[in-house]
Amino acid sequence: MKKIAILLSGRGSNFIKIYENIRSGVITNAEISIVISNKPDAPGLIYAKNVGLNAIFVNPKDFGSRIEYDLHVISILNEIGIDLVCLAGYMRIITKDFVDAFPHKIINIHPSLLPSFPGLNSQRQALDYGVKFTGCTVHFVDEQVDHGAIILQEVVPVLDEDTEETLSNRILEKEHIIYSRAINLIVNDKICLKGRRVYILN
Ligand code: GAR
Repeated sequence: MKKIAILLSGRGSNFIKIYENIRSGVITNAEISIVISNKPDAPGLIYAKNVGLNAIFVNPKDFGSRIEYDLHVISILNEIGIDLVCLAGYMRIITKDFVDAFPHKIINIHPSLLPSFPGLNSQRQALDYGVKFTGCTVHFVDEQVDHGAIILQEVVPVLDEDTEETLSNRILEKEHIIYSRAINLIVNDKICLKGRRVYILN
């Protein structure tokens, strides 16, 4: 059984979907061993506590730097023996120390077809640019923001009548599907990484 850590900062809908998919057997061979939030009142953290998961708030104010914060998180994850770290709406840029501590074991979901529209407000960026298709990406995390090797992507059309909210909602539906799919592939050793290319094994 692979041990998953979830890092989040907010609503936590991706985390909740992962949790449900583990419980229902859509994701096999995995358990959520810890949920960590950098925000005490993150709804995702509160949900995790309510369902009885090991869920903690790590206060950025208790640390002098981002590196010190991440070293603390690394020590928590190492103590548990975490196999996979899933960033799920974790709105902190993680340090090189963190990436180096878990090589190819940190993944993220992003609401655009990377490398288009990295950073914040990706759905707004897509609307402003006028693209006809956008989507979402699950990728390995490296030292650059929204940059690591791409595991899965899903395309979402941009409709004439779309607002940021309607587009975000339709992208989120796809996020909920591909994040669990990617996790299931990884924890069942169905992913092969060569350079930037990710191959899915049969
Ligand atoms: C999701 O749309 C996720 O793709 C995005 O934050 C949202 C979190 O929602 N992440 C990023 O933009 C990372 N660069 P959730 O808390 O309901 O899962």
